[in-house]
Amino acid sequence: MASMSGKVIPTPPDWRKRHPSTPSLANILEYNTLYEESIRSPETFWANQARDLLSFTKNFHTVHTGSLENGENAWFLGGKLNACFNCVDRHAFVNPDRVAIICEPDDPADESQTITYGDLLRQVSQAAGLLRACGVKKGDIVTIYMPMVSETIVSILACARIGAIHSVVFAGFSADALRDRIQDAESKVVITTDEGRRGGKTIQTKYLVDQAVQECPTITNVLVCKRTAGELVLTPGRDLLWGEELKKYSAYLPPVPMDSEDFLFLLYTSGSTGKPKGVLHSTAGYLLGAAVTGKYVFDVNCQDRFFCSGDIGWITGHTYVIYAPLLLGCSTVVFEGTPTYPSPTRFWDIIAKHGCTHFYGAPTALRLLKRSLTKADISGANIMSLRVLGSVGEPISPEIWRWYHDFMGDEQAVITDTYWQTETGSHIIAACAGVTPMKPGSASLPCFGIDLAIIDPVKGEELRGNSVEGVLGIKHPWPSMARTIRGSHDRYMDTYFNVYKGYYFTGDGAYRDHDGHYWIRGRVDDVINVSGHRLSTSEIESVIIEHPSIAEAAIIGVPDELTGQAINAVVSLKTTQDIESIKQQLISKVRSAIGPFAAPRRILVVEDLPKTRSGKIVRRILRKALSGETEFGDISTVRAYKQFDPSLDLLTIF
Ligand code: WT7
Repeated sequence: MASMSGKVIPTPPDWRKRHPSTPSLANILEYNTLYEESIRSPETFWANQARDLLSFTKNFHTVHTGSLENGENAWFLGGKLNACFNCVDRHAFVNPDRVAIICEPDDPADESQTITYGDLLRQVSQAAGLLRACGVKKGDIVTIYMPMVSETIVSILACARIGAIHSVVFAGFSADALRDRIQDAESKVVITTDEGRRGGKTIQTKYLVDQAVQECPTITNVLVCKRTAGELVLTPGRDLLWGEELKKYSAYLPPVPMDSEDFLFLLYTSGSTGKPKGVLHSTAGYLLGAAVTGKYVFDVNCQDRFFCSGDIGWITGHTYVIYAPLLLGCSTVVFEGTPTYPSPTRFWDIIAKHGCTHFYGAPTALRLLKRSLTKADISGANIMSLRVLGSVGEPISPEIWRWYHDFMGDEQAVITDTYWQTETGSHIIAACAGVTPMKPGSASLPCFGIDLAIIDPVKGEELRGNSVEGVLGIKHPWPSMARTIRGSHDRYMDTYFNVYKGYYFTGDGAYRDHDGHYWIRGRVDDVINVSGHRLSTSEIESVIIEHPSIAEAAIIGVPDELTGQAINAVVSLKTTQDIESIKQQLISKVRSAIGPFAAPRRILVVEDLPKTRSGKIVRRILRKALSGETEFGDISTVRAYKQFDPSLDLLTIF
C-alpha cells in the first residue's frame, strides 16, 4: 500500500487570483459542511439544489420516495420541467448571443463553428418540429448514430424538447450492434450523418445505418445530416435531408413539460453478462446530478469554455459535453477529431484557440500523448485560460497524474479525477476543483449526497473507518442514479441492488486511505476497460464461440501500458487446420458483431482451457498467466491442460 500513501499536491498559489470568478466553494471547510448536510438531510440538500439549479414549470411536492432495497426510487415527484428548456431557452431568453457550442472540426484548416444560445433555440425548435412531423411522440425512443458534430447535440435536445427519449449509439459500433439497439428500442426514427471525419479518416455512418435498418421493421424515417461532400444515396420515402427539412419548421416550438421521473434517455452499456444493458435515466434527477457536479466538481460558471474530449456516444459526453455545460449556461467545445491528428499537440491547439477554461479527458489519451511529446513541442501554446483538468474512465496512475499536472497543465491548473459510471449519471467520487486536496492517483472524496461504503466482498459487511479495502457500494439513493434497465427490471435489481442488500453495488474495488480519500482499484466483475471503453468479456466470448471451429473461449483483460487493459482471447479449437486464418476470422467477427474497438489484440490457441472439476473455466488463472504472474494460488482443483500453440511458453505451466 506504500504507493497509496498519497502525497498532497497544493493548488497553485496564484490559481484563484488568475481566475477571479466567484468560486462555487470557498474552501474545504465549506465542502465538509455541505457534504455533512447532504448526508444528514439529503432531501433538504437535494431540494435546495434542485430549486437553485433547475427551472421547473410546476414545483415538486415530494423530494424522494423509494429505497435501495426495493429499487423503486423516484425524485422530485409532482414536478414538471423540460430538459431542453433548462439547457437552452432559459439562457437564450436572457443572453441570446452567448456562445453555447463551439465546434472544432477534425481538420484544423477547416473553420470552426459557433452556435449561440439564440441560434440553438431556433435549431432545436426546428429539429423538434421535424421529429414531430415524422410521427415521433412523447415517450418514443429516437436512435442517434452520429459523429461529434453540432447536429448531434441539436438532435438530442430536440428529442428532449418533445419528450422523446434519446438513445445515442456510439458511432464506433458496427451495423449489427446498431441494429440490435434499434430493435431493442423499437425506434421509428434514426438520425445520422452522411459520413463522419475522424483523424483524417472517413466514417461511413449512413452506410452502416442502411445495413442496420434492413432488419429494423419499426424504422419509418432516417434523417441524414450532411457532413462531407461525399456521394449520398437516399432511399425515397424513408430518408430525409436534415438541413433541407429543418427550414420547413417554425423557429420556436414550445417545450413539452415532462414529469420529473419521465425518462430522458436510454444508453446501452456493457455488463458482466452477455447482452448490453439499456440504462434508463430520468429527467429531473439526472439533470440535477449533471448541474450539481458541473458546478461543484468543475467549478463551472457561465463565462467558461468547457472542453470535454469524451464522445457523445458514451455517458461522459452526455453529461459533460452536453447537459452539465448547457445547464450551467457556459460554452461547450465539441471536438470532432482525435488527440493526435494532425499532430499530438492538437488538444493544446484547441485549448489555446478557444480559450478553454476546462479540459476533461481519459488517461488512455494522456498516456499516448506523454509518449509522443516533449516539453518543447508545447512550449509555444498559450493555455493560460486553463483552470481545471479532469480525468475520467479509468484509474489515473500517479505518474500520468503528474504528467497531466506538470506538463499538460503547465503546473497552472488543478486536477480532478472523477470516478463514476453510466448508471450513476454523474460523478460519485471527485475532487472539487481547487478545494479538495489533490493526491495523484486518488479520486479523492465523495460528491455531495453520495454516501459511500467499502464492503467486505466475502462477508458482505461494511468495513468502517479508514485504511480499509473492499468493494465499493453506495448506501443511500441519489437523484441521478439510473432508474431501470429497459425490458429487464430484474436484471437491474440483480446487478446493482441484490448483490449486497441495502447497497448500490458499483462493481469496482476500492481502498479508503488513512484520511478518507478513495483509490479505485478497478472492476471486480467480468467487465474490462480498454482505452476507457467498457466491454463485457462474456459478450465478446459469445461472439467468438459462434465460430464453427471454436470449442471453447475465454476473454481476458490483460494490463496494457497504453490502453489500460488489452483484450486477449484464449481459445481451444475443434480442428488443427488453418489456425492463422481462424484467428483472422475471429477478429473480423468481433469487429462486425460489436465494433473495431472490441477486437482481441491477441488470440492464444490452447488445447484445453483450465477448468474446475465441474467444468467451469478458471479465468483467474488465465488472467494471472497472461499478466506474466507465476503465482496462481490454489490450483489443486483445476484440471490441467496442455499448451497447444507452439509460439507460447507462457501457458506451459499447466
Ligand atoms: C467504469 C464505468 C462514467 C465515466 C466513463 C466510463 C471505471 C470510471 C474512473 C476513475 C477509476 C474509473 C470504473 C467504472 N472508471 N471512472 N476516475 N477511476 N475507474 O463510464 O463506461 O459506465 O464505465 O469505469 O471501473 O465502474 P462507464
